[in-house]
Amino acid sequence: MEKFSDLVLNLIEATRKHERYRDKECINMIASEGLKSPAVNQMLDLSHDLACRYAEGENDTQGHVKKRYYQGQKYMSQIEDFSTDIMKSLFKSTWADVRLVSGTHANLATFKGLSLASKNNKMVVTPLSCGAHISHDYTGLAGNVLGLENINHVYNIDEFNIDPDKSAYVIRAAKPGIVTFGGSLFLFPHPIKELKAVCDEVGAYVAYDASHVLGLIAGGQFQDPLREGADFITSSTHKTFPGPQGGVIMGSPTTPALEKAVKKIQFAIFPLSASSTHLGRLPALGIAALEMNVFGEQLARQIVRNAQTAGQYLCENGVKVLAEKKGFTKSHQIAVDIRSFGGGNKIAQDLEDANIILNKNLLPYDDQSSKGDPSGLRIGFQDITRRGFGEGDIKHLCDLMLDVIKSKRKPEEVKADVLALRKEFSGVKYCFQSVEEALTYIKKA
Ligand SMILES: Cc1ncc(COP(=O)(O)O)c(C=O)c1O
Repeated sequence: MEKFSDLVLNLIEATRKHERYRDKECINMIASEGLKSPAVNQMLDLSHDLACRYAEGENDTQGHVKKRYYQGQKYMSQIEDFSTDIMKSLFKSTWADVRLVSGTHANLATFKGLSLASKNNKMVVTPLSCGAHISHDYTGLAGNVLGLENINHVYNIDEFNIDPDKSAYVIRAAKPGIVTFGGSLFLFPHPIKELKAVCDEVGAYVAYDASHVLGLIAGGQFQDPLREGADFITSSTHKTFPGPQGGVIMGSPTTPALEKAVKKIQFAIFPLSASSTHLGRLPALGIAALEMNVFGEQLARQIVRNAQTAGQYLCENGVKVLAEKKGFTKSHQIAVDIRSFGGGNKIAQDLEDANIILNKNLLPYDDQSSKGDPSGLRIGFQDITRRGFGEGDIKHLCDLMLDVIKSKRKPEEVKADVLALRKEFSGVKYCFQSVEEALTYIKKA
């Protein structure tokens, strides 16, 4: 083992290297990551004391602080209430909870709360290879931690979506307490509207995991789950919604059954699963929400346009992009079958060697056991869109990717061009450059 002080030195050095590498030298296309603005980063810097504090307590069914267990909370309670109201206002819900430290935590509290409220431990979910997150699955949080029994939606591979007719049959037969929508490989809006009535018929709560698409929803460019029948949205706050890392749950408890669900979810947050709720992120969450309110529509539209442009261009150039007949995607990501070029593992690694960062991914027809070397790649466009990439830049980037995918040039040779392209996009767009700029905007608005 190295000397203790050397370990700390190494830690600091590795951190510096990481910041330079991923922030300055790479083109980031991981679909589950977000890019914070200078104003959001500055707000985090201004919230250091808050990041040291605790705010254990209970909230009411509007999401406001009702009871605290510690002293010193007078501003912290306001900060939590304001953040809650900002999210409620942006997503048009009457209740929100911002105490979740991640999307997985939001799922944990929601699935636990809803299974308590429904007294039913069955949950209908999308199969993992068809896009569900591990936290929805029996092999992950849902099964292994919460003890929920998973029943799969029927997935239509040609449509790249849940089959509403066949899933209705599954829901009727299984009579679950929870039906989930949303996911990690998520190209097209899920059929909530089509399945809401059958969920009501069997008394199932509808939970929609918006982690990937929350920014697109804020920008009005994807489905609107709460208006389409979802009882609750669970989400990360740091993917297409470009806030600090954290989680949120939202809903509008208009019936006694939904109110009961909110209370059970709150119980599942505190005392069951949170003590520190990482309050230092909340002011920055508010700035990110303001940015989405002001720039979200334009940003979300360009993200989807960039994803579709890449889908079309890669397809025209001999790469199998999924869902061609449906226009490739309506979200921030595309899925590519890369088997004929060596498989997901090899191509993701080759692209990394050229400083293009994305991930290998199971495709809906893959066997779950091929996780180590799946057929596909998942490619996300939210980061580079925020950097300012337009359709022409996307085609240029695709040409560089094609050079690697088709082994026309060595990844190390392509890397020089990637670095040059990356240099052209040094800023962050669709955002405020400082907290001061955000304040000036608010005063004028
Ligand atoms: C659909 C979905 N839900 C939840 C999560 C987990 O989010 P977090 O990393 O915030 O826990 C992810 C992560 O990518 C996801 O894709």
